[in-house]
Amino acid sequence: MRIDNPQSQAPTIYREQYTPPAYFVDTVDMGFDLDQVTTRVATRIKLTRNDATDDHTIILFGDELKLVSLTMNGTLLGKRDYELVDGNLHIPGAPDQVTLDIETVLAPSQNTSLMGLYVSSGNFFTQCEAEGFRKITFFPDRPDVMAKYTVMLRADKAAYPVLLSNGNLIEEGDLGDGRHYALWEDPFKKPSYLFALVAGKLVCQEETYRLQSGRDVQLQVWVEPGNLDKTQHAMDSLKNSIRWDEKRFGLELDLDRFMIVAVGDFNMGAMENKGLNIFNTKFVLANPRIATDIDYANIEAVVGHEYFHNWTGNRVTCRDWFQLSLKEGLTVFRDQEFSADLIGSTSGRAVKRIDDVRVLRQNQFPEDAGPMAHSVRPDSYLEINNFYTVTIYEKGAEVVRMYQTLLGRDGFRKGMDLYFARHDGQAVTCNDFRAAMADANGRDLTQFERWYSQAGTPAVTARMDYDAAAKTVTLTLAQTCAPSPGQEDKLPFAIPVAVGLLDNAGKDMALVLQGAPAERTNSKRSKPVHSLVLELTEAEQSFIFTGVTEKPVPSLLRDFSAPVVLTFDYSDTELAFLMGHDSDAFNRWEAGQRLATRYLLAMVGTVSADKTADQTAAATVDATLLIEALRTTLTDQSLGQSYREVILTLPSETMIAEALPVIAPQAIHGARQALRRALAQALQPEFIAAYSANRIDGAYQPDAESAGKRALKNVALSYLAELDDAPVHTLAQLQYDSADNMTDRLAALGALVNTSAPGRQAALASFYSEFEAEPLVIDKWFTLQAMARSTDVATVRELMRHPAFTLKNPNRARSLIFSFCNGNPSQFHAIDGSGHAFWAEQVIALNSINPQVAARLARSLDRWRKYPPAQQASMQEALRKVADTAALSNDVLEVITKALTEPKAKASL
Ligand code: TRP
Ligand code: ZN
Repeated sequence: MRIDNPQSQAPTIYREQYTPPAYFVDTVDMGFDLDQVTTRVATRIKLTRNDATDDHTIILFGDELKLVSLTMNGTLLGKRDYELVDGNLHIPGAPDQVTLDIETVLAPSQNTSLMGLYVSSGNFFTQCEAEGFRKITFFPDRPDVMAKYTVMLRADKAAYPVLLSNGNLIEEGDLGDGRHYALWEDPFKKPSYLFALVAGKLVCQEETYRLQSGRDVQLQVWVEPGNLDKTQHAMDSLKNSIRWDEKRFGLELDLDRFMIVAVGDFNMGAMENKGLNIFNTKFVLANPRIATDIDYANIEAVVGHEYFHNWTGNRVTCRDWFQLSLKEGLTVFRDQEFSADLIGSTSGRAVKRIDDVRVLRQNQFPEDAGPMAHSVRPDSYLEINNFYTVTIYEKGAEVVRMYQTLLGRDGFRKGMDLYFARHDGQAVTCNDFRAAMADANGRDLTQFERWYSQAGTPAVTARMDYDAAAKTVTLTLAQTCAPSPGQEDKLPFAIPVAVGLLDNAGKDMALVLQGAPAERTNSKRSKPVHSLVLELTEAEQSFIFTGVTEKPVPSLLRDFSAPVVLTFDYSDTELAFLMGHDSDAFNRWEAGQRLATRYLLAMVGTVSADKTADQTAAATVDATLLIEALRTTLTDQSLGQSYREVILTLPSETMIAEALPVIAPQAIHGARQALRRALAQALQPEFIAAYSANRIDGAYQPDAESAGKRALKNVALSYLAELDDAPVHTLAQLQYDSADNMTDRLAALGALVNTSAPGRQAALASFYSEFEAEPLVIDKWFTLQAMARSTDVATVRELMRHPAFTLKNPNRARSLIFSFCNGNPSQFHAIDGSGHAFWAEQVIALNSINPQVAARLARSLDRWRKYPPAQQASMQEALRKVADTAALSNDVLEVITKALTEPKAKASL
């Protein structure tokens, strides 16, 4: 799709228009004279012409750069020797071997975009992915240009005692007049997006770690002074990551020194700069007092993610940004597997899988159905920053997981080994990865490419026919995929569908698939097969199982074997049966979610906007079957606590919304609340018992089992809070007052705030004053209030006037504004449109501070076409207001333009 964007200077970029660079860069030598107001950067680049092209023009990208001087092979170039095109430098007619000396000046303290070189809490940081290096110097800032870097940092010694960059520290010393220097050399070639420097008052926890090979490496976690009591978990996570990558993939740390640095102002989670990972403080700092169990798990996952990038991303990188999922999808898959392997237990692994699938369904499925839908390997973009999406990351991880599902763990490992053998040190494509998987396993994966080229979530419909006389089960699977922007017609995907068949006792039947090779089925094996991966490659396909002596209940898409929506006409009783018996832990949960969704959708139909949750006809929908199944789960001591907790959690309001043709946020909220109250009333004694049984005596431990106990205890508390009676007020207050860790603290505060408990205002105030000095906890304080049921736009505006609030810090903006717009749908979508007007104001305000963050918030109205006409009107008005703003960034412009673009009339598959 061509975007018509009259405001934009920058053109849409197309994947098909990729051309190799005319010049490669061999070495980069940089000198920084760091100063907050004016930083001087001197860069020497040695280039060699790419003789595979005829092109003699050197193209150096620049973004809002001030050029001081430019010298080519010793000769100062004047205005007539180069062209400035949209801020980029073009040097035509250059020789084959070129040395360029480039001097630029930057104003780091003015940089609120948090891209390029910027200041946070008085320290210097850089962020270069995707195109931030061009905010530091003129450079062929594209990932297929890989070079060796040396970096000289000079700065005032008292203000910036620590000077860090990629690779190894070669030399350091004093310069006189209070300044000092450090010289860094990165031994590995890298694309410019992996460049980093950090300078300032920082301290580190460090440790020598012995690799499996016997080599010792130096590990460091750098933080602001005062935070050294919050680095142990990140350090432990780093060591676990190193060990895991050696074991599971045979990949060793290739550096002698590996650093993690925490920064409070950061656009995303973290960044995998070679040897110098820079992290949002949210994904580093933890101790029991300030971090929840979820924080601990997230830190482990993000530390793993960035570390794993060292091979998947850095040693082998992307040819161009359309290939982003090559590194991101693969690295998310790796961090998911890492977290699952660390948990170990079967039910713990299932919980991890469920969490990951929830993220996919809650965020990626809506993206895939909305105006910003794009394939895992997109065809075009206006602003690459907008394509760091759940599709690239999470759906990309699902696509990688499907290779493993199709090829097996060993086959997948062979593919990875071949990928590194072929491409170490190169910038490659998603097709190169697919080819390595295919070639290492002798498989034809041609059709599999459609997962990369076609957007949209496939819908798979299953039908089962049982022939008692022939003792056969015929499973018919059919797939369709709705049109996406720019993609009217889709071809069938290659979909691995893992299935099992349950007998009347709930046991897995032995599976014999007609026509399948002997090793895949039971016929020639001593050990029965209870789960099979069917490969659906056509629009419709039937699979016949033989020797089936009774009519089974099918368990479909086990462990969520493909990122699709699967429909099967289960009866309520069958779903309750699967909840109790399926050997696949994921599908037991899934059955509960299906049953709950069914009741919730029925209830939404009976709730009208003018009725409160209490008046809703919870009674008109008989949820006994679900309630009894949940009672069984809640009291089943053989199930892990964390697993019971996820089963007890109802589908979110966003998930319910996606299941409806027209979204009615207030009715959805009312229905979900009514069902929660019904569950609380029916299961009150069991919730009280679970609460008592899962209290932990003794010091806080972040391990999975203890976290599971807290999760189950706190979900019990949140259900009991629905009763809003004196006993639960007392219980929550007691937990709040006595908690020795943030998990229990925050859960109790949440329970108080969402009830009429007399102590709720006092608790909010005491929480604030107790944690005033901990920004990450104050973020939680804002978030909790942003998502509270009673919080409306007026409350959010009031919170914005709190002295601790600022739009400039992304974590703070996300904690209040994003949490309200994305996490409190019934209030955000208030009928009077006040939420939408508020949203427009904040997008516009953020646009001039930080376009990347603004564009994320701009996505909150993506699904406006799914709302009733009255709400569509106020959403459209808000979108237009943003669209009409002067000086709109490309980031926001792209999101808003796509949201307002009329979709083509619906074509059929
Ligand atoms: N590559 C990083 C990761 O996934 C994320 C990232 C991309 C990023 N662009 C960024 C982080 C800009 C901060 C700012 O690990
Ligand atoms: Zn990543």
